[in-house]
Amino acid sequence: MDITVNGEPRAVPNPRRNLLSYVRYDLGLTGTKYGCGEGLCGACTVLVDGQPLKSCMSTVGAVAGGSIKTIEGVANDGSLHAVQQAFIEESAMQCGYCIPGFIMAAIGLLEREPRPSRDTVRPALSGNLCRCGTYLRIERAVIRAAEGPR
Ligand code: FES
Ligand code: FES
Repeated sequence: MDITVNGEPRAVPNPRRNLLSYVRYDLGLTGTKYGCGEGLCGACTVLVDGQPLKSCMSTVGAVAGGSIKTIEGVANDGSLHAVQQAFIEESAMQCGYCIPGFIMAAIGLLEREPRPSRDTVRPALSGNLCRCGTYLRIERAVIRAAEGPR
């Protein structure tokens, strides 16, 4: 059984392996964060076939055959993704721990809805928590990314 992670095919030694543990500890992609381990904070969000998934709540087997993207796979040839760039421009990070999860959730949102309103952004990111409370800056960053080229 194989999956693709950031465009590279990867073997899955144990389909029951927790997806977050697989990404962080087996593949060394530590940009995906462990927050709560219970599906409540969104720090572990990755994209599976373009849609956000809280990896702490999944096994590798559950996404077998799928295409996984982590924060390490978002930039393209050294150029930041528009969402990453917008987070920098809006100074959306404080400690930064939650940010990879927010960025993945935001990219998933923009895939579904390229020009979201503020009222759409809030519920779409409501599964992601920021202990530093940078929600308004994050929201502005997502809107900025939507307005610019991607
Ligand atoms: S670590 Fe997965 S939702 Fe918190
Ligand atoms: S920036 Fe610190 S938890 Fe969000």
